[in-house]
Amino acid sequence: MPPAPSLSPEVLAPLAEIEAALARAVEGTDTPTLLRDAMAYATLDGGKRLRPLLAWHACVAAGGEGPESLPACVAVELVHCFSLVHDDLPALDNDDLRRGRPTLHRHAGEAMAILAGDALLTHAFGVLATTAPADRFGPLARELAAACERMIAGQVLDTLGFEGEPDADTMTDQQRLEAVHHGKTGAMLVASLRMGGLCAAVKDGVSEGILDRLTTFGHAVGLMFQVVDDLLDVTQTSEHLGKRSGKDAEAGKLTYPRVLGVDRSRALVRELEADAIEALAPVGDLGDLGANAEPLRALAQYLAVRTR
Ligand code: IPE
Ligand code: IPE
Ligand code: MG
Ligand code: MG
Ligand code: MG
Repeated sequence: MPPAPSLSPEVLAPLAEIEAALARAVEGTDTPTLLRDAMAYATLDGGKRLRPLLAWHACVAAGGEGPESLPACVAVELVHCFSLVHDDLPALDNDDLRRGRPTLHRHAGEAMAILAGDALLTHAFGVLATTAPADRFGPLARELAAACERMIAGQVLDTLGFEGEPDADTMTDQQRLEAVHHGKTGAMLVASLRMGGLCAAVKDGVSEGILDRLTTFGHAVGLMFQVVDDLLDVTQTSEHLGKRSGKDAEAGKLTYPRVLGVDRSRALVRELEADAIEALAPVGDLGDLGANAEPLRALAQYLAVRTR
């Protein structure tokens, strides 16, 4: 077997600071103990932390210092963990296993899972309000709110279908897939990058050109991330993934492997990886991401070949 793909120590170096900031944010909440325990269960000790890593390295690529991105890192991971808790609920994907452990509703009951999800989402905005520089709170909160709305819209289309959508009758399966995947997964990845960029304390603020390039990169990486997630669901074991595999087909979900087949889905991953990397290339007047963007490039390459 080929060795499992991994990220370099340089890309992973921020993880200790990210974990510590996340633990502080969750353990410092003024809530009933049972709720705090549920929030901690859903958030700490697990997860690849890809969204915080994207935020941190986007901040560096935009000319900032990594730790400046911590408010964004924590906020996006809290929202992501909320989305997983609700995604696993019986009314949505009805999953029992997440990050190698029972899902929160299996561990603490459905009422607590619903409420802890609500609390994680709310707390994400609280973290931004209390830890981001005052002049950055507005733009960061706007990015996060817009991404949450797009994520939830994607979850609605994924779970309940397209009935009532204006072009529902003429859309191809591939167009539906793109709409679902850009929403439910891509939006939060794009937001992670843009919010990381917005945290960079550079003179006169980060330029629109740099934010645009982070958006183009995030758009490609975001879609790629969910195509890979769909592929892993059909190619990996539950034990390896730490979540149940084979469930998309069982639930009749619209996925890339189902619509394009495994080989064409893999080819699409390669195309999206190339699009992402192209977005990072130095192009003078759009702002120089090139010099500091190596970790983002490495993340895109890893996300194309990850096996969990
Ligand atoms: C899983 O996300 C849910 C999707 C959006 C596909 P991750 O694969 O990033 O999950 P964790 O955070 O590492 O558990
Ligand atoms: C989940 O997509 C997307 C969100 C949580 C917003 P999936 O349903 O494919 O994620 P997994 O496979 O359960 O992690
Ligand atoms: Mg789902
Ligand atoms: Mg799911
Ligand atoms: Mg999945």
